Amino acid sequence: MPLLGEGLPDFPWDTLTPYKTAAYAYPGVTADLSIGTPVDPTPPIATAALQASIQSPGYPPALGTPELREAMVDWWSRTRGATVPLDGVLPTIGSKEMVALLPALLGVTGNVLIPDIAYPTYDVGTRLSGADPIPIDTATDPGTWPEAELVWLNSPGNPHGYVLDADQLRRIVEWGRATGTVIASDECYAALPWAEPYISDGVPSILADDIAGEDKTGLLALYSASKQSNLAGYRAAMIAGDPAILAPLIEMRKHMGFLMPGPVQAAMTAILGDDEHVAAQREIYRRRRDVLMRATAAAGLTADPQTKAGLYLWLEDESGTLDSWGIVGALSQRGILVAPGTFYGQMSKMKVRMSLTASDEAVDAAAERLVAAPLV
Ligand SMILES: Cc1ncc(COP(=O)(O)O)c(C=O)c1O
Repeated sequence: MPLLGEGLPDFPWDTLTPYKTAAYAYPGVTADLSIGTPVDPTPPIATAALQASIQSPGYPPALGTPELREAMVDWWSRTRGATVPLDGVLPTIGSKEMVALLPALLGVTGNVLIPDIAYPTYDVGTRLSGADPIPIDTATDPGTWPEAELVWLNSPGNPHGYVLDADQLRRIVEWGRATGTVIASDECYAALPWAEPYISDGVPSILADDIAGEDKTGLLALYSASKQSNLAGYRAAMIAGDPAILAPLIEMRKHMGFLMPGPVQAAMTAILGDDEHVAAQREIYRRRRDVLMRATAAAGLTADPQTKAGLYLWLEDESGTLDSWGIVGALSQRGILVAPGTFYGQMSKMKVRMSLTASDEAVDAAAERLVAAPLV
């Protein structure tokens, strides 16, 4: 009998272990900038709501509590310019489970288009469903894309922070409608814009009324509280969009017991109603980003100019001497750990991804070492 996990790509992080050992052996604070896991405290607004809800004897609603559903609808409208109905939102246990499960929950078995430089779970989830992942550059004319049942977008993108602008999203919506293709847009880094017009206007959502119109047929968007609210440990995220697609998905999730825990639903309700802590966290990342941009440039690393948002720098050796693993090795000798571009596809073998998720102390220490000891 073939096993379900057969044929999946190896979990790549194990290959980083020797460099992790080297980086952690550095005498001084290690700057682990490899994984995008938040390190700053979970905001009091979330912890207080969680604590107030620790009595939770009954099963939580799969659909979300009425308060959470209202909060989700309000959040999409207030921060993303997207009018979605109450049956067009659903809480998920982090967004990774939905990235991994959506093709299977939709019963997709044909082609799934995924970004060619991407978070690996789009590929894994497609294979788990028995469908075929086809990597494409989602910034290209959708008229040139292969036929597919589902398309994954990720904007702002992991690892590179590229953003699909409003015109490109409109083209994709139009193409999806003309071809009957479901469009799923993973927007979990939307709260972290670093360039105009996105600082002023926000990073556009596939569900925004001025992109999709009022009718969200065929469209889904994922959002997560993990990054914007330092809530990765709570597993609090959501999917929104076409109620006709969400309805069967909700039925299946009830059968499978995919329920966001009640206290987490309370915490998520609280954070979705508050934009202040998100702005404060953005400022923390802005400072770290500025420090690391200056220091990496001084060390001979070039940051991709197309990066407009997100939680990462996407860097390469300006001299072209070091490839991705060469840069990982050189940085590990300076007590800095980053992820090689090859984790995100073979097109990225000269790149590394540097996350902004380390303490100010670790980021400042890393910056000092980079300036004192350039790479080549
Ligand atoms: C593009 C992308 N999507 C989804 C996720 C999953 O986030 P979470 O499951 O914490 O919501 C991540 C996490 O790093 C990500 O980079």
